[in-house]
Amino acid sequence: MYSEKVMDHFTNPRNVGEIENASGVGTVGNAKCGDIMRIYLDINKDGIIDDVKFKTFGCGAAVATSSMATELVKGKNVQEALQITNKAVMDALDGLPAVKVHCSLLAEEAIHAALWDYATKNNIEIEGLEKPKSDISEEEEEEVY
Ligand code: FES
Repeated sequence: MYSEKVMDHFTNPRNVGEIENASGVGTVGNAKCGDIMRIYLDINKDGIIDDVKFKTFGCGAAVATSSMATELVKGKNVQEALQITNKAVMDALDGLPAVKVHCSLLAEEAIHAALWDYATKNNIEIEGLEKPKSDISEEEEEEVY
């Protein structure tokens, strides 16, 4: 039911941990399943994501999508990171079962939340970035089911 890539990123997740004095930290949860994801971004003066770490208290798909999402944003600039959707994360993992699609939304929103935190701290505006939700369960009902 899970692809090999999902199993790989679940059993051997990349970029687990935290970054002290991170440029941006984003935490989002899903009140329905109770899962929580936190992403730390280290962004250099040129706006490039030098390092990224995550902590996820959640299901296997949430761990795998956080791991893949961190791999996808590393080395990108903030605009490119903003373009990384949950679909891109799922594609990179060779798909997720339909009932697990919502888990990937957590990863997309956590990246947005960390970018939002970075933008707020630095008093800048990232074009196309909207204020992220801290609980994605409402959005999920509209978009996924
Ligand atoms: Fe909650 Fe997967 S079941 S994130």
